[in-house]
Amino acid sequence: MHRKGTILFLPLAIGLLSCTGNNYHKGLKDYYATYFSMGVAITPQSLHTDEATLVASEFNSLTAENAMKMGPIHPTENDYFWKDADSIVAFAQRAKMNVRGHTLCWHNQAPGWLFVNVDGSTVSKEVLLQRLKEHITSVVSRYQGKIYAWDVVNEAISDREDDFYRDSPWYQICGEEYIAKAFEYAHAADPQALLFYNDYNEINPVKRKKIIQLVQQLQAAGVPIHGIGLQGHWSVFEPTYQQLDSTLSDFSKLNIPLQITELDVSIYPKEHARREATPTDGEAGFTPELKLKQDEAYKTYFKLFRKYKHVITSVTFWNISDRRSWLDNFPVRNRKDFPLLFDSNLKPKSAYIEVTNF
Ligand code: GLA
Repeated sequence: MHRKGTILFLPLAIGLLSCTGNNYHKGLKDYYATYFSMGVAITPQSLHTDEATLVASEFNSLTAENAMKMGPIHPTENDYFWKDADSIVAFAQRAKMNVRGHTLCWHNQAPGWLFVNVDGSTVSKEVLLQRLKEHITSVVSRYQGKIYAWDVVNEAISDREDDFYRDSPWYQICGEEYIAKAFEYAHAADPQALLFYNDYNEINPVKRKKIIQLVQQLQAAGVPIHGIGLQGHWSVFEPTYQQLDSTLSDFSKLNIPLQITELDVSIYPKEHARREATPTDGEAGFTPELKLKQDEAYKTYFKLFRKYKHVITSVTFWNISDRRSWLDNFPVRNRKDFPLLFDSNLKPKSAYIEVTNF
């Protein structure tokens, strides 16, 4: 009797021990367990460094920063490069984490061969859609059952107030039709996968309206679209509480899942186009004032994410720590930024406390 009890309670005892002992670490994913999943964009190289431990203890969802984009994964027409994407998916499976696929159709980091014939002339719409279909079918099928959600089309809406669609090679060759087609191809390849439209600068009311209109048009046409990805490359200066509240409120009215897909909070005012450094760029660095501003911004953003937990199903950070962020080179080359919750030594910053203290 006694023995049976011991055996029965052994797993519980081990669980308790690991919860109360020194080894237990409560990560972002645990603080937010009843809200939404917490993800991070990574490179396969980071999984061979001390960052891997941090990733597995803080997050429960992974996105490939680059490894699943069209160019890196499909560099020439007849060759796929699976190694990097495979290793990220394998890590996620071992660590029992979700994977968000990113991204099946985008104008940036697309391989040059996609848009041209062997003689260098521009391909026809039929050829481009056929290539898109082949690409999406191969990538989505390979990870069927292992990637639960895909950013299908990335950034198809224009930032220019007078234009609706972005004037990309996709649009120039196919017109708007490539968007619906991309979703259809992805759905055919994995009917279980959740399919997202993903874009940035969604806090801008004009662009937001266009994104919402696009999603409504796709829904009305019966296109399999299941959610909206709000990239969330923000700054300590914007969005304000009001701006983000109205952004999330507008999107929530669509009644489909929202995911914050690429969160970082730059210490610089937001700019969306690449430019050269000016003599004063980055001079002040990460001052105590900016630290406080960043704490405040992160606190506000997560307060609002929690308010909209009925529609937000995931929040993903774009990069792991201030050791390296794409913002160190964008929009200004070689201007160090400090946009994340962990510092260069992988220690939680004060903004981490703001995010987890609620
Ligand atoms: C966009 C893309 C991401 C990434 C960032 C910058 O937001 O969706 O994949 O390239 O730009 O790193």
